[in-house]
Amino acid sequence: MTKILKKQSLKKLNTFGVDALAESFVLIQSENDLTNLYESGELEKQPILILGGGSNMLFTQNFNGLILKITIQGIEVRKQEGEILVIAGAGIDWNSFVNFCVEENYGGVENLSLIPGTVGASPIQNIGAYGVELKDVFYQCRAFEIATGEFIEFKNSDCKFDYRDSIFKTEKKGKYIITQVTFKLNKSKNLTTSYGAISSELENRGIDKPSIKDISTVVSEIRVAKLPDPKTIGNAGSFFKNPIIDSQKHANLKDKFPEIVSYEVGGNYKLAAGWMIEQCGWKGKILGNTGTWKNQALVIVNHGGASGKEIFNFSTLIIDSVKEKFDVKLEREVNII
Ligand code: FAD
Ligand code: EPU
Repeated sequence: MTKILKKQSLKKLNTFGVDALAESFVLIQSENDLTNLYESGELEKQPILILGGGSNMLFTQNFNGLILKITIQGIEVRKQEGEILVIAGAGIDWNSFVNFCVEENYGGVENLSLIPGTVGASPIQNIGAYGVELKDVFYQCRAFEIATGEFIEFKNSDCKFDYRDSIFKTEKKGKYIITQVTFKLNKSKNLTTSYGAISSELENRGIDKPSIKDISTVVSEIRVAKLPDPKTIGNAGSFFKNPIIDSQKHANLKDKFPEIVSYEVGGNYKLAAGWMIEQCGWKGKILGNTGTWKNQALVIVNHGGASGKEIFNFSTLIIDSVKEKFDVKLEREVNII
């Protein structure tokens, strides 16, 4: 087992780049590390927090417990009857995993190119982008149960995946550590090109029969143009979820705001939170060390030196003004610690 460190700075371990300390901190490089930690009794002594790439977290205070940073590597491919199962260690960088699949011409995750974070965190909020969600390619995961020290498997249907949601954010929150994820990919050309700017970008390039790699390239380029790079400006992607409302409420809103951006989902409507935030005058606005991104109002950024509390308080101002103007309550997507 690697050594437990004390008073570890988290500044470089979260993409907001906010300063906070972990009372205790340990790197988890293998499943054995977890078993040893369990047997040492450390997991019972104090609050536990699992950390991947820190790209969906906001530390508003120090963490008075033990942080386990998951770095488990390893990748294995199993092929069976036209299906490709890829088993990936939880600590693998998500985009490196996507690049591996794209290079091998395994289809399914190309629309999820350039999402920061780790493989192990991908099921937690059922990551999604450009018309694809993790649940579309998730086969199963292996997870360590903190209370018992046992490893169990979760199949796709066990995970209760929904928009930015899974069992790991609700009834099983904080109870399991994902060590490995198995993806079901394919070699057929079942590509998703209908979402957002993908098809127009392909057209601009004169590509009418896109490859898996073409989709990955186009999605990456759209993302780079819209989203701030956490390496240069602290952020955690969309700070809020796009709210889902029923058709009655949607009809009322549409009456009042004919331009409102919304998408039908199973009889309900998903609203573009970024549009509403922009309409409230927040797009590109800077307040102290924080603000929203100039090209995407749904992203809150750290302009340098912001504390987690400052960012959190700023997000409350946004929630309040969207509530006042649209009578819609925004929910934070980022995990608040
Ligand atoms: P962390 O932030 O470290 O952790 C997130 C949560 O998962 C925490 O609750 C943590 O305790 C838990 N966790 C992490 N690893 C494990 C594990 N192995 N076992 C159990 N629990 C674990 N998200 C999208 O869905 N779509 C996007 O398009 C998208 N774009 C983004 C763009 C930018 C620029 C940024 C900064 C973020 C974006 N995100 C997006 C959010 C983020 O990348 C994802 O939520 C990602 O899955 C987080 O991975 P992570 O390893 O950084 O997790
Ligand atoms: N819009 C505005 N102003 C803004 C931002 C958006 O008017 O400042 C409107 C535009 O009309 C745009 C629409 O909102 O067409 C949707 O915007 P965009 O395509 O940028 O997507 P989003 O709904 O804001 C979601 C995800 C992203 C994901 C993209 C692409 C959520 C909370 N966010 O953003 O995920 O990458 O779609 O699929 O669902 C993340 O979770 O961190 C994240 C970045």
